[in-house]
Amino acid sequence: MGPLMATTFEQETSFAGAPDPEALAAGQRLLGDLSAAVTCILCALGDRLQLFEALALGPATSAELAERAQVDERYAREWLRALAAASYLEHDASSGRFALPPALVPLLAVPGQPMSLGGGYQQLPGLVGPFDAVVRAFREGGGVSGEAYGEHLWEGMERTSAGWFDTLLPGPWLAALPELRAKLERGAGVADVGCGRGRALISLARAFPRSRFVGYDAFGPALEAARRNAELAGVADRVRFEQRDVSSGLSGRYDLVTTFDVLHDVAEPVRVLEALRAALEPDGTYLLLEMRSADTPAENVGPLAALLYGTSVLFCLPTSLAEGAPGYGTLGLPESKVRELADAAGFASVRRLPIENPFNVLYEVKP
Ligand SMILES: C[S@@+](CC[C@H](N)C(=O)[O-])C[C@H]1O[C@@H](n2cnc3c(N)ncnc32)[C@H](O)[C@@H]1O
Repeated sequence: MGPLMATTFEQETSFAGAPDPEALAAGQRLLGDLSAAVTCILCALGDRLQLFEALALGPATSAELAERAQVDERYAREWLRALAAASYLEHDASSGRFALPPALVPLLAVPGQPMSLGGGYQQLPGLVGPFDAVVRAFREGGGVSGEAYGEHLWEGMERTSAGWFDTLLPGPWLAALPELRAKLERGAGVADVGCGRGRALISLARAFPRSRFVGYDAFGPALEAARRNAELAGVADRVRFEQRDVSSGLSGRYDLVTTFDVLHDVAEPVRVLEALRAALEPDGTYLLLEMRSADTPAENVGPLAALLYGTSVLFCLPTSLAEGAPGYGTLGLPESKVRELADAAGFASVRRLPIENPFNVLYEVKP
């Protein structure tokens, strides 16, 4: 907080006597968070308009940035000043140029890798798009349909998880399961349930050309995007997508069944798990990815937990309640709950894989 703001807070918190240091600290914290929230929206603008990629080419004046990114110079100038004020950009007053510090380049200006935050920024305006509908759901109960959130939310989610699927899934995640990896190399049948836009399957299809892949999802528009993605990736010959509510079963048997961030969303988790078990070959594997969560909500604290609980309030909870789901929420399936559900569905074993990842936990589940 700048000296001007600090002075204002001191005055406001001390009008009835001596400055109250706790009120001052609380005010500074909240104002800092409010400022950060607006800065994040500016990052969403930077992401949408590819301003960070343009800045990564080298320091730029507002005119140079406007030229590189094909945007209006006056808007570019104000955006640059705002992000320099937030210390995201360096400003050289003598040349009038703004620079993206090297440490921020992989986070903001290089799409498609696990550290990129672009998908997170892209989701932000969509997350608050149906704000009034969420307010209504708070008052009256019920949910908000996934379609109310708009294309950018879904695309932002796809980008976020694609960073994991393109690198971590065929890399360290499957390295933890050498026998499964060998089976996929020889040629196996794979079903991804709740496949969304198909990025996990496409990544697997690239890595294991001898295997065959089916993606199931109940949401038709996601599958249209998935089919387009598979065509673009050149793997449409070995990946197909099927619209289906899997609580009524899958249409084949598989060596590997996967769910990536799906189980906490489904309406009937035990029924879905039973359907997955029935679709597995006797020596098959169910690979289950869920959000990393502590067993008790009181242990889920800190910036990441706040981000995930916030996403839950604004999106995961309303959309799953709209489908009649139990409404676990984004952090509602810690290991103990996963084990309880798998057990209720008749699975023989659940093994938590030694994957170090702040967002996810990966389980090997056997029928
Ligand atoms: C959070 S998204 C995850 C998408 C994708 N796996 C990813 O990580 O990007 C959950 C997906 O599960 C799908 N889904 C939820 N319940 C389902 C069900 N009963 N049958 C099929 N798909 C379901 C939703 O339509 C949604 O696309």
